[in-house]
Order: sequence, then structure tokens, then C-alpha cells
Amino acid sequence: MIKIRKEQPQDIPTIHEVNKRAFGQLIEADLVDTLRRNCKDLLSLVAVVGNEVVGHVLFSAVTVEGEERTVEGMGLAPMGVLPEYQRQGIGSALVRTGIARLASGDCAFVLVLGHADYYPRFGFEPASRYGVRSEWDVPDDAFMILVLNESVMQGISGVAKYRPEFAEAM
Ligand SMILES: CC(C)(COP(=O)(O)OP(=O)(O)OC[C@H]1O[C@@H](n2cnc3c(N)ncnc32)[C@H](O)[C@@H]1OP(=O)(O)O)[C@@H](O)C(=O)NCCC(=O)NCCS
Repeated sequence: MIKIRKEQPQDIPTIHEVNKRAFGQLIEADLVDTLRRNCKDLLSLVAVVGNEVVGHVLFSAVTVEGEERTVEGMGLAPMGVLPEYQRQGIGSALVRTGIARLASGDCAFVLVLGHADYYPRFGFEPASRYGVRSEWDVPDDAFMILVLNESVMQGISGVAKYRPEFAEAM
């Protein structure tokens, strides 16, 4: 049984380890710690199997600066599942729970830069369809958006700005 819940303070070292092992490097694990220190507007969820934290996803604030107004949403990144627990639906449960929580708040959209054959199953589509561009040079189909509030997004197009910690980490 997979349980998805919000991060608790005692999960912090395990989340670091999960991301380190999922990505095989420290960049994403350290980025999560930096964002946690710097931002209050985060959604950090863990996947628990038994009593063990085996997966993690973070959502942080993103803005799209249109010509007349700026719209706020969230960016999904990073997400990691321990290698021995991958392909069992844990990543999907993290994404779906995160989206449901954000949709019940006032989040207008969720962005993700990731595998183009993974995220569309959750409703993501190329962000370019909404005229939303990445601040980085990335393949068009890898930069995806899930619009949660069509009316807020009406007429908005422009560059999506992630938290500066992302550029600093890369
Ligand atoms: C991506 C990740 C979080 C998915 O978690 P998961 O628990 O394995 O995901 P699920 O079991 O819900 O879904 C499995 C599906 O994910 C897709 N998938 C997983 N890794 C993928 C990859 N590298 N490229 C494309 N699709 C991938 C596959 O379609 C797979 O479906 P299949 O088993 O039918 O082939 C996990 O593989 C991971 O931690 N990877 C390393 C870190 C990473 O790349 N994070 C994502 C950054 S965008």
C-alpha cells in the first residue's frame, strides 16, 4: 500500500537520500534543501510504503509574465523514486495527489520539464500550446503545462519563471 502525505520535518534526511539515489547525483537533493530553506510556498509530498519514505515530489512557485498581468502557478520538480521501487505506480501517485491538492487551492497551472512520454498521462500538454515558453533552451515537447484554471490563463502567454534556485543549481 502506497501512502502519499505531506513532508514532515523528520523526513528531511530521507528525502535527500531518495533524490540522491533516484538521480544518481546530489544536484536535485541539494536543490530541494535549498528551496525548502528559501521558500514558503512549496508543496512537498512523500510516498510511504510500510514505514519507509520511498519517493518524493516538490512543487514550487512559477510565474508567467504576460503583457498585461502575471499569473502564478507551480512547477513540478524534482521528483524521485528509489530505483528499487520504480515502475510500481509510486511516481504516478505522487503526481496525481500533488495535482489534486493544487487544484483544490488557487493554483492556475502546473508546469513540468520532463519526459514527454510520461507526463501527458496526467493531462500535461506542451506549454507552447498556451504560448508559455521556458526561460531555458529545452525541447518543445518536454516543457509541459497542466492548466487548472482556464479563465485565469485566458490570454496569458509569455516566459515562465521558476525560482532562481533552479538556474543556480544547474
Ligand atoms: C520518473 C520517476 C519519478 C517515475 O516514478 P515511478 O514510480 O517509476 O513511476 P510510475 O511507476 O508511476 O510510472 C512508470 C512509468 O514511468 C515512465 N518512465 C519512468 N522513467 C522514465 C523515463 N526515464 N523516461 C520515460 N518514461 C519513464 C514509464 O512510462 C513507466 O511506465 P511503464 O512501466 O509502463 O514503462 C522515476 O522513474 C525516477 O525517480 N526516475 C529518476 C529521476 C527522474 O528522472 N525524475 C523525473 C525528472 S522529470
